[in-house]
Amino acid sequence: TYVVTENCINCKFTDCVEVCPVDCFYAGENFLVINPDECIDCGVCEPECPAEAIFPDTDERSAGWLETNAKYASQWPKITQKIPAMAEADEWDGKPDKTPLLSP
Ligand code: SF4
Ligand code: F3S
Repeated sequence: TYVVTENCINCKFTDCVEVCPVDCFYAGENFLVINPDECIDCGVCEPECPAEAIFPDTDERSAGWLETNAKYASQWPKITQKIPAMAEADEWDGKPDKTPLLSP
């Protein structure tokens, strides 16, 4: 599976949801997740993310994020179409230590 990781937080560009063939993205207030049970590992979302926040779960940059994706995929509503990015998405892109800011 692919997973969404830290740099999505407070950016939420949502380009990723447009390309997913199985519509397996779920949206929280300031973060998106992939449902690992639905993702077919096609990889097309990875290059679409302007924040480069999507990686295979086997990538070292995904460490710890599979659990977060699975957890919120069962709680948040499905999202299938692009919406406006968060107001200060460009400012937040690349900021370190955003994990504590994730809204449940
Ligand atoms: Fe969807 Fe493919 Fe990305 Fe999985 S890898 S979330 S199936 S676009
Ligand atoms: Fe997040 Fe990137 Fe998608 S910032 S919403 S994973 S396009």
